[in-house]
Amino acid sequence: MNKNLLSLADLSRKEIEDLISFAEKFINEDGSFKKESLFSDKTIANIFCEPSTRTKSSFEIAAKNLGCNVLDFDTESSSLQKGESIYETIDALSLMGVDLCVLRHSESVIHELAQYIPEMTFINGGEGSISHPTQGLLDLMTIIQHKKTPDDQNIVIVGDLDHSRVTASFLEGLNNFKIKSLTFSGHPDMCKSFQNHPQGKYEPDLDLAIEGSDVVMALRIQHERLAAEDIVDIDQYKYEYQINSERLAMANEAAILMHPGPVNLDIEISTMVYESDQSVIRQQIANGVAIRMAVLSQFLSG
Ligand code: CP
Repeated sequence: MNKNLLSLADLSRKEIEDLISFAEKFINEDGSFKKESLFSDKTIANIFCEPSTRTKSSFEIAAKNLGCNVLDFDTESSSLQKGESIYETIDALSLMGVDLCVLRHSESVIHELAQYIPEMTFINGGEGSISHPTQGLLDLMTIIQHKKTPDDQNIVIVGDLDHSRVTASFLEGLNNFKIKSLTFSGHPDMCKSFQNHPQGKYEPDLDLAIEGSDVVMALRIQHERLAAEDIVDIDQYKYEYQINSERLAMANEAAILMHPGPVNLDIEISTMVYESDQSVIRQQIANGVAIRMAVLSQFLSG
């Protein structure tokens, strides 16, 4: 396995399955997480140049569960605000003894940083609209918990696909599995790159897309990344693309509903389906801690 986790495309099916099995071992029977002081000599820094609740907090909890020292790097009060570059910032942290950096950034800077600061281990915590590998791992973990394997599943992804780093990493992960079908759905202005996609078909009519599906993944409308001309009418969006009880009933009876969060509740999905037995959205959040414990253990030992 590489020294850094930059992209899910860098991992084989076996490496993905091994990381997910490893993550399962960190979950106690009651759903709490094991606390093992395995890496008390390691320091990690969470550098989040874009907002985050789930990824940042779960990496911090995962690192503390493993006994790491955690530097909660506050970008707003750092010398990034004085014009220091992200390279100089992370190089300085490396010189201070930080072993591993979880980086979220709006641009694809992590690949060059990993090249130029080889002493540091880099974990991609979200790279613009490009990738979010640990989200992809926890999404696959959640599917495996409910369906045993992504193989032979009918999967639908609906929403703002063009801006979704979650989708990009999920597709890199799915590339390793023999899924039955993959359907992309959503407003055409949000799915421009998915209308002729090698991995799946685009079906703009969500009612047709969702019929017979086993896994339904809804995505957040990323207002912060949409150009003004692409902002859609929310009421029309809800009418055409909201996952509500009627729509979820068109999927297979045992279908699961996923969403990476944060959810724009009652826009992308209704409160009723969010709270339904078919929703595994809260389980995805919890799996985030376990998968990040596995990732940190693996890449700190590497
Ligand atoms: N899913 C996800 O990346 O959530 P956060 O932006 O809260 O980290």
